Amino acid sequence: MSQTLIDHAIDILRKNDQGSYTVPTHGLYPFQWNWDSALTALGQAHFAESRAWTEIETLMAHQWEDGMVPHIIFHEEDPGYFPGPDVWDTGRDVPTSGISQPPVAGFAVRRLFDRANDMVAATERARALLPLIDAWHGWFFRCRDPQGTGLVALIHPWESGRDNSVDWDVAFERVPTEGVEPFQRRDLQHADASHRPTQAQYERYIYLVQLFRSLGWDNSRLHDASPFQIVDPGFNGILIRSCVDLADLADRLGEPEIAARNRAWAQNGIDAMETLWNESDSQYRCFDRTIGAQVKNASIGGLLAAFAPIPKARAEQIGARINRLGQNAKFLVPSQPVDSVEYDGKRYWRGPAWLIVNYMIADGLEQAGQTKVVERIISDSLSLIKKSGFAEYYDPVTGEPCGGKTFTWTAAMVLEFLTKMKEPA
Ligand code: GLC
Repeated sequence: MSQTLIDHAIDILRKNDQGSYTVPTHGLYPFQWNWDSALTALGQAHFAESRAWTEIETLMAHQWEDGMVPHIIFHEEDPGYFPGPDVWDTGRDVPTSGISQPPVAGFAVRRLFDRANDMVAATERARALLPLIDAWHGWFFRCRDPQGTGLVALIHPWESGRDNSVDWDVAFERVPTEGVEPFQRRDLQHADASHRPTQAQYERYIYLVQLFRSLGWDNSRLHDASPFQIVDPGFNGILIRSCVDLADLADRLGEPEIAARNRAWAQNGIDAMETLWNESDSQYRCFDRTIGAQVKNASIGGLLAAFAPIPKARAEQIGARINRLGQNAKFLVPSQPVDSVEYDGKRYWRGPAWLIVNYMIADGLEQAGQTKVVERIISDSLSLIKKSGFAEYYDPVTGEPCGGKTFTWTAAMVLEFLTKMKEPA
């Protein structure tokens, strides 16, 4: 069975490969996406090591001068996607979007390096990527944490990677829709409308894009100008983990300044993360920076924080919380608790389970010694694949496949899970 799954996963990664980057799935997502690519590289490394490095190099080649790495790179024209380059209008030679996405690349590059068979190439390629990822991390702390709190804010839900999470609902009410230019969504041609964000959410997504565009995508102004500023523990957990891993790699490659800088960012972040802890939920919660209050919702974002080296006691509490969530969800980890009012088992980030998030939570909890819950997360992930194929995401109660099909990062995570994530600590 395993070999069939491995062959199937490799086949998907090959079919979605465009040469130097991989599309998440043909049709629905026809370009290069930021965190998709970094996680995809981990899967590619199992059968095409050199190609895996290329995936991340292509992404980083489109870094902006200020350090930002965009969430979409529009390598080729495709009228089947909205919002395309003309809506973003970021003025790049190869068009890109104007916001970023979870910076998982630092983690991915360290993992590629740790596993490399060709150490000469790995050293050279990691050395070239190091300053670029360091600059991206610096960009986040400079432009998305201007007050120096230690944690960065998202200024658009798409930046989180969890596009329509319940976490954003209340804050999103404050985003107006007046002046939004008429548009036609394209996602509904490729996926079931009941699995996707609503029209009202789309109007607000576009409002924010128009606002940032009117400010010339000047990142020294966007944070303060945005009516949406959310500090997401999951996003910050990824950033912190990437800083820690980049620091480790920088030490090994003889770059002590990069190492020291990233270690300091990580430590500040871990200290500040404690302010997001919610004792009654036994997990972290988002913080709404515009009003200065915790968001009243306990989603998967507060569990994903365990990807970072948070205190052991916190990892233990999160492990216990996930076990409790598993009493209602047959397949861990639901992106929203099954017993919450807002839960919607098929609608994108409002309930469904996603293998990439499972992977990151499992990896963090494994490092923290939470082996039992990690085993359940991995076994549920593989059960989903066996039952429903390589979908974009899954209903955590019925296990039904949702969203796009033959999905790249799902395939990459299966290759990772099947090698049991054996990694140096
Ligand atoms: C959706 C997801 C996002 C992902 C993208 C491409 O927008 O919410 O996290 O990067 O699709 O797969």
